[in-house]
Amino acid sequence: MFDKQAERVKNFYDRFAEKYDEMSSSIYKKVYDEITWRFIEPFLPRSGLVLDAGGGTGRWAIPIAKKGLKVIVYDLSKEMLRIAAKKAEKEGLSHLISTVEGDVRKIKFPENTFDFILAEGDPISYCGDPEKAVRELYRVLKPNCYISAGVDNIYSIIFSMLNMENEDIEEIESALKSRKIYIKNLGFYTWAFTPKDLTDLFTRCGLEVIKMAGKPILFLGTPQSTYAFQDPEKLRRLIDIEISLSQEQSLIGMGGHLHIVAKKSKGL
Ligand SMILES: C[S@@+](CC[C@H](N)C(=O)[O-])C[C@H]1O[C@@H](n2cnc3c(N)ncnc32)[C@H](O)[C@@H]1O
Repeated sequence: MFDKQAERVKNFYDRFAEKYDEMSSSIYKKVYDEITWRFIEPFLPRSGLVLDAGGGTGRWAIPIAKKGLKVIVYDLSKEMLRIAAKKAEKEGLSHLISTVEGDVRKIKFPENTFDFILAEGDPISYCGDPEKAVRELYRVLKPNCYISAGVDNIYSIIFSMLNMENEDIEEIESALKSRKIYIKNLGFYTWAFTPKDLTDLFTRCGLEVIKMAGKPILFLGTPQSTYAFQDPEKLRRLIDIEISLSQEQSLIGMGGHLHIVAKKSKGL
């Protein structure tokens, strides 16, 4: 049984699945992905089982499995998972990548199952109950292991609302207060965070925050800026700038998205 939010999310991604990977080719996504990988790769275990929660088409499951790790791509959307399985087969990684349909708010695995958890691309923001999801992720993570997660940043959402000549100041005030925003082009709500909200949530759920980053900080991916960074050498240097700024305390809240890495040290 799905609640309304889960039904909307599932319907959206089921419909969008075939096209989902196309957007990864944009320059903005390249910058975003390079920063994201810096907050995944160093925390991967040498061996063991990884949960890619809200893993979608397996965009991250594939590079993780290429390191020899077993990955379960866990998602609400059957269609996103179908693409993930197809890609795993094409890459010769079917023996390492499997897919499971399910909700991050009620994970179908026993406690202390996974050696690493990824929740990238906003599943915590989209699931309808971030606290329930993070508590579940904590439950299934083994002690002394890491979780790496990307979520929506409230300030970046407000920034976009203001820059779309939004005259509805009440909508902006209400979004800032509730942290819950209806995304018209997706057709469902997102729960967005400040860096402090995110630290507080993970800490409340028993996790120790190791790193927090904004991604990206300065690059907006407008048509003009995208054009300027077609050159691979310039793009490389832009990525270096973004990586160097991503963990700057005074700038994290400006990030397009927020990324957190946390550790399950001991029980609550
Ligand atoms: C933007 S996509 C990210 C996919 C992938 N992690 C990536 O980074 O490319 C968000 C994914 O979260 C999944 N999702 C949202 N709410 C979920 C929930 N409650 N349980 C499981 N998956 C969920 C969606 O179905 C979708 O595949």
